[in-house]
Amino acid sequence: MIKIAPSILAADFSCLGQEITRMEKAGADYIHVDVMDGRFVPNITIGPPVVAALRSKSQLLFDVHLMIVEPEKYIPDFVKAGADIISVQAETCPHLHRTIYQIKELGAMACVALNPSTPLHTLEYVLSDLDMVLVMTVNPGFGGQTFISAMLPKIAKLKDMITTASSQAVIQVDGGIHSGNIGEIAAAGATVFVAGSAIFNSKNPEQAVAGLRRAATE
Ligand code: DX5
Ligand code: ZN
Repeated sequence: MIKIAPSILAADFSCLGQEITRMEKAGADYIHVDVMDGRFVPNITIGPPVVAALRSKSQLLFDVHLMIVEPEKYIPDFVKAGADIISVQAETCPHLHRTIYQIKELGAMACVALNPSTPLHTLEYVLSDLDMVLVMTVNPGFGGQTFISAMLPKIAKLKDMITTASSQAVIQVDGGIHSGNIGEIAAAGATVFVAGSAIFNSKNPEQAVAGLRRAATE
């Protein structure tokens, strides 16, 4: 039920392949890939060739979080590279319904991410089409930021909306997640947890993943 998705943004970029293998051994469920374009967010990270190069290093699902403008131009390349889940930021998609169906028709799972200030009602008419909703719990762009606690009632409200809509969507959270706050975030309704620094900065990633999982279910 609980899924832990290490964000490779916090990995050692000089040996990403080994870092991914290390996460699989540590008991991670997904590999979270943060794609940034220097436009939607200030930072620039990686593109489809890197995802393709990493694909053979792990059996885990690749959860690709697109923090880029005009994501519809690049979604086919990311799916071809091996993305299993594609998240687009709602703020970048004027034709969100079309973009969701573009992802699904390519055979990937569709997720929409919302910035902390983006209201939930943006999703009202697409909720039943989604496999996952990503509630950003920091402003996207960088790892190592502090969890925004105003996102707890947002997660709880989204959980209610999902139930009312009889949607299959699960709730993912991303940003500032650690063993000290994951319990209350899980209690609010999230089941998929992205963690960068909490896992990669730990001396023992296996313990870090297990610790997050335990704290989420306590
Ligand atoms: C933020 C990214 C996150 C980030 C999480 O823009 O989407 O995935 O790397 O990192 P931590 O867990 O360090 O906040
Ligand atoms: Zn992310």
